[in-house]
Amino acid sequence: MPAERLDKILAHHGFGTRKDVKRLCHKGLVFLNGKIATDPAVKVDIGSDTLVIDGKKITLQHDLYIMLNKCRDVVCANRDGEHQTVFDLLDESLKHKFLGGDLHCMGRLDIDTEGLLILTTDGKLTHSLLSPKTHVPKTYGVGLRDALSEEEKLRYAETFSKGFWIDREQNEDGFNCAPAVLKWREKDGKFTLEGENPALYEAVEKNSSGKSDCLLTIFEGKFHQVKRMFAQMGNQVVYLKRVKMGELSLDPQLEPGSYRELSEAEIALLKQRQTD
Ligand code: URA
Repeated sequence: MPAERLDKILAHHGFGTRKDVKRLCHKGLVFLNGKIATDPAVKVDIGSDTLVIDGKKITLQHDLYIMLNKCRDVVCANRDGEHQTVFDLLDESLKHKFLGGDLHCMGRLDIDTEGLLILTTDGKLTHSLLSPKTHVPKTYGVGLRDALSEEEKLRYAETFSKGFWIDREQNEDGFNCAPAVLKWREKDGKFTLEGENPALYEAVEKNSSGKSDCLLTIFEGKFHQVKRMFAQMGNQVVYLKRVKMGELSLDPQLEPGSYRELSEAEIALLKQRQTD
């Protein structure tokens, strides 16, 4: 775990400027591992040291990693004059400054897209996982406007598996869509995916308003990519929910609009894909 100067940590936790922190130290109000710390420059190990200020224990954390089940009508932006943002859903206690950096969305979901969104202060991880070179798989539950015959479903799956051209949209250039994996919902209304927790797909099975539903895994993250892929086939996405990113699945217990911190094991799963 990284070590940081005591005054830097306390300034991040809202104890004022470095000068204010110096004053706290000189008053004997700062305890590091049970002993009075008088030197504001002393290094603190974020992973193992304990810090108590004026009788109050400070939780030391370099970075924050949150899994949010994004609901509709909420935007992935810091501020929005019209809509609620994903940051408005968070508790005030998470809004202090972390040592790692500012809290931000790891990628964006459209206003009408639901599901797995990671919020983190770890800019290095975000940069690496969103890099076009990293090819992190992202799986979406998709509901489509039109019912499709078995033949048409096969045609979609084959086209997607080979990769194909997507036309220009508004100000966004057209692009060569990389091969993607499409799995249609079975006739019994269920998805069968070996090794996956079925609860993960139940929300898609229950909530999709589509005439035909599928799970789509893409390995890039172009603007409105999933919607544009189906639009290119002449169909329209009417329900969209991200259920997986890399090896990390959305926790099926998380209600829409709610969130929790990632466990150490889940952070490790995400970091498996980090390339630099
Ligand atoms: N693709 C889309 O079209 N929208 C999203 O929100 C995510 C992927």
